[in-house]
Amino acid sequence: MNNNTQQGIVKWQSPANIALIKYWGKAGHQIPANPSVSFTLNNAHTEMELQWEVKPESNELDITFFFEGKENLKFRQKIADFLQTRVVQYPFLKTLKITIHSENSFPHSAGIASSASSMSALALCLCSLENIFLNTLNDESNFFHKASFLSRLASGSASRSVYGGLVTWGKIDGLENSSDEVAATLQAPTHDIFKTYQDAVMVVSRSEKATSSRAGHALMDAHPFKEARYTQARSNMQALIKAIAEGDTNTFGRITEEEALTLHGLMMTSEPSVLLLLGNSLEIIHKLRTFRNEKRLPICFTIDAGPNIHILYPAEVKKEVDSFIVAELAQLCESKYWIADHVGNGPKRLK
Ligand code: PMV
Repeated sequence: MNNNTQQGIVKWQSPANIALIKYWGKAGHQIPANPSVSFTLNNAHTEMELQWEVKPESNELDITFFFEGKENLKFRQKIADFLQTRVVQYPFLKTLKITIHSENSFPHSAGIASSASSMSALALCLCSLENIFLNTLNDESNFFHKASFLSRLASGSASRSVYGGLVTWGKIDGLENSSDEVAATLQAPTHDIFKTYQDAVMVVSRSEKATSSRAGHALMDAHPFKEARYTQARSNMQALIKAIAEGDTNTFGRITEEEALTLHGLMMTSEPSVLLLLGNSLEIIHKLRTFRNEKRLPICFTIDAGPNIHILYPAEVKKEVDSFIVAELAQLCESKYWIADHVGNGPKRLK
C-alpha cells in the first residue's frame, strides 16, 4: 500500500444465482456433500460499497453496516462474524474503520435468497482490500478464485456467484479443475441455447424463510436418504453436463425438476420436517406442466429453499411463455408479483 493512503472506497455489484443441481448437505466446514451447478442471474444483484479509513488504534474490528440506507445491526453481526474469521490472514482489517452500504436490486421482502449476492459482493470487496493492502491479487484469475473461496466460507452457494453463465462448485468426476473449495465456470461444452436462458421468478410468497439454510444443511446429517441423495446428485450432474453440451432441453428440464423436487422431498422427510411449498407453488407447477404438454415448449421449473417457482426457458420462446405467465400464473403470485431475469455475466467492479 502507498503509505500516504489513509482511506478509500471499493464497490462491487454481484449477482444472485439459481442452482440446477442443488447443494444440500455438508461434508465438513463449508464443504459440499455433492457438487452443484447454477445459472448466474443478471438483474437480481447486490451492490456493496465498502469505505475504509485507517484508525489510530488497531485492536478491534470496527464495522458499521447500512442496508438500503438504514443501519442494520443484524446484517452487521453476520458480516462482522465472518470478517472476524479472516483477521489472522488479513491483520489490516483491525487497523481500519469500515463502513459498508449495501443494496439489493430486488425488493427485500421478495422471498428471494440474498445471501449469494450479498456474501459474494462482500468477498469481492475483501479481495479488493487484500490487493490494496497486500498487493497479492493483481492477476484477474487469482482474484476471482480467491473471491470464490472467501464467498464459500461465508455462504456456500455464494461461491458460484463470482462467475457468469453456468457455474459449478464441488468435485465432479471427469472435470479436471473442479473443486470443493472454489467454484468455476462450467469446464465443459455449453450449447448456445443455454446461454440465452430466462428465469421468471413466480413470487408465491414474499415472507422470509422460516428455516435458515444452515439449519437445512444440518438436517441432512442424519437424513435416512442421504447416501441415495448424494449418489443421485452425482449422476444427475453427469447427465446434466451431457444435456447442456448437446442442447438437449428435454433432459435438462427433467433433471432440473427432479433436483428441485428432491430438495423439497428431502426437507419434507427430514426430522423435523420442513415444508416450504405452498398451495400456489403446486398450482403453478401443474399449470406449467399442462402448458408444456399442450405446446411442446422447452420450459421447466426449479425451486430454491422457499415456495417461489423459477421458470426456466430459452429466449426464443420468451414471448409465448411470458404471455402464459401473465395470463395464468401471475394471479397465483403474492400481489401478482413476478420477476423477469436471465443468465448474466457475473460481478462488476463499480469502484
Ligand atoms: O449457500 P447456502 O448455505 O445458503 O445454501 C444454498 C442451498 C440451496 O440454495 C437450496 C441450493 C443451492 O445450491 O444454491
